[in-house]
Amino acid sequence: MKPQPWIRTMFILHILRASCVYSSRPNFILIMVDDLGIGDVGCYGNKTIRTPNIDRLAKEGVMFTQHLAASPLCTPSRAAFMTGRYAIRSGMASESRMGVFIFSASSGGLSTDELTFATVLKKAGYSTAIIGKWHLGLNCEKNDDFCHHPLNHGFDYFYGITTTNLRDCIPGHGSVFVAGAAEYIRAMFQISSLALFTFVLISCTGLVAIPWKRIFYIASFTSVLLGAVILFFWNFHYLNCFLMRNYKIIQQPLVFDNFTQRITREALHFIKSNKDTPFLLFMSYVQVHTALYASQNFKGKSSHGIYGDAIEEVDWSVGELLNELDKSHLQNQTVVYFTSDNGAHLEEISSSGEVHGGCNGIYKGGKSTSWEGGIRVPGLFRWPGVLEAGTVINEPTSNMDIFPTVLKLAGSPVPQDRIIDGHDLMPLMQGESITSEQEFLFHYCNAYLNAVRWNQRNSSSVWKVFYFTPNFQPKDSNGCFASHVCFCFGSFVTVHDPPLLYDLSKDPEEKSPLTPQTEPDFLKILETIQQATENHKKTLQAVDNQLSWNNVIWKPWLQVCCSSWTDFCYCDLDKDLRIE
Ligand SMILES: *[C@@H]1O[C@H](CO)[C@@H](O)[C@H](O)[C@H]1NC(C)=O
Ligand SMILES: *[C@@H]1O[C@H](CO)[C@@H](O)[C@H](O)[C@H]1NC(C)=O
Ligand SMILES: *[C@@H]1O[C@H](CO)[C@@H](O)[C@H](O)[C@H]1NC(C)=O
Ligand SMILES: *[C@@H]1O[C@H](CO)[C@@H](O)[C@H](O)[C@H]1NC(C)=O
Repeated sequence: MKPQPWIRTMFILHILRASCVYSSRPNFILIMVDDLGIGDVGCYGNKTIRTPNIDRLAKEGVMFTQHLAASPLCTPSRAAFMTGRYAIRSGMASESRMGVFIFSASSGGLSTDELTFATVLKKAGYSTAIIGKWHLGLNCEKNDDFCHHPLNHGFDYFYGITTTNLRDCIPGHGSVFVAGAAEYIRAMFQISSLALFTFVLISCTGLVAIPWKRIFYIASFTSVLLGAVILFFWNFHYLNCFLMRNYKIIQQPLVFDNFTQRITREALHFIKSNKDTPFLLFMSYVQVHTALYASQNFKGKSSHGIYGDAIEEVDWSVGELLNELDKSHLQNQTVVYFTSDNGAHLEEISSSGEVHGGCNGIYKGGKSTSWEGGIRVPGLFRWPGVLEAGTVINEPTSNMDIFPTVLKLAGSPVPQDRIIDGHDLMPLMQGESITSEQEFLFHYCNAYLNAVRWNQRNSSSVWKVFYFTPNFQPKDSNGCFASHVCFCFGSFVTVHDPPLLYDLSKDPEEKSPLTPQTEPDFLKILETIQQATENHKKTLQAVDNQLSWNNVIWKPWLQVCCSSWTDFCYCDLDKDLRIE
């Protein structure tokens, strides 16, 4: 019997639909900017920084207004992004003050027991690259085992820095260590002066016999130690800020001039050479983390100093990528995602007083806090022909959602052997669902559960409780200016019992905590969230802490160096290897 025409049509429609959405295996360009605030971008309300290309993504795609970084700090946020899991699950959440890797020669990093979206897509036949910042470790036991290197985590190609950009990476930009340790340096200076004064006083009176020999040894030992520390930080940019192409160091120290242009050139080359293969490009901008820089075309051009210049150059770079997609006729086969790893770093003020940290719009706090300003980041998706242009979604979503979304679209099953905290965003973005799968989001400050967000079903309310809040210094400021970042424990925080409760749908600025008087369901809400938290905690398993002191300190035997030590670890091969 011949099939009915309508059955045939249905069948063809079904195939078309399936091939449109799932079989065509789109390319991915995942863009992450470092420390960019949600208030720094035009489509999120900035009127004075020019970001036409980023705004174009919003105009031609989906804009999330409540997109949350899984952590308010680089290393844990990136670990969660890469794996679709809370950083605490991979041991990438610190228990101490040191929440990120700052030395290239530390032994911690993302374990290969973890699965990144790059690993999965590479297996599925994708060509994969990361260009820019990695910040998830390098070596474990030897300086060439590259156990944590991007190429050991599913990337075919790497061009960038393994640790992070810091003020100390560019001579003349000051030191983040001096900024962070200012109070200790001052205290040490005061104590030493006092000790010296007392000593001189005692020796003048002649009442006590002075052990000159012992003093000489102690003084010599202290000077050598102090000298070594000063020498290390003096040479910080040689030891920690170098450029790698795959496993090879091609510039040490990295010359940051034109660096946004250089990574753009690399990205364009990658796109052009993969026109005929599905590809995944993780474009991980080193800006707008300090030290800030901009090329000649952008320097002095924005109305917000070098910070604005750097953003406008990043925006130019995003435009170059989009233009290349147009030129290669890949725009409809490529999903473009844009985000920031955490909120703007408000405490970044240069030694001359210039504002080097961005703007988080109406939101409170910034990087290193779980106030909205620390975690609510830009979240844009563009896929012409599949996602409706100009869609705005206010539901809470997470940067951990990218992992399952990308896997699903690439036709790879989401792993069943571990907990994945992200959810596929396609139903929400395509309008098949109006509610985010993220009913509860757990906001960690390093390893400490700081706050919980409850997107209550069938209700417009989005509740957020805080178990503790950072002590801002000075007290009435919007950040921790005295310590450069806010810390997550001890005397740096105020513990709240009962927890502070906000309804973000009515109070996105987190101004007025609710009370049993102002919110009749106060206790019920806390109870529901408490239950969800307990359920969440039950799913956590003990893992090695990759950010323990032992894993973050500088280990001389892990130091990489492109030339012999007598050549001071200097080399510059990037010019020779430049792609035309
Ligand atoms: C940066 O670009 C400018 C203009 O193209 C060029 O003159 C300069 O030499 C470049 N700097 C480096 C370090 O490549
Ligand atoms: C735009 O961004 C700059 C730089 O962060 C900031 O100073 C300014 O206040 C922002 N403008 C608005 C309207 O948010
Ligand atoms: C891409 O998709 C859009 C929207 O469906 C369509 O208008 C356009 O013609 C497509 N472009 C190409 C090059 O296929
Ligand atoms: C929300 O409302 C829908 C339809 O009114 C209902 O089917 C569903 O069970 C409700 N969900 C919850 C969690 O109350």
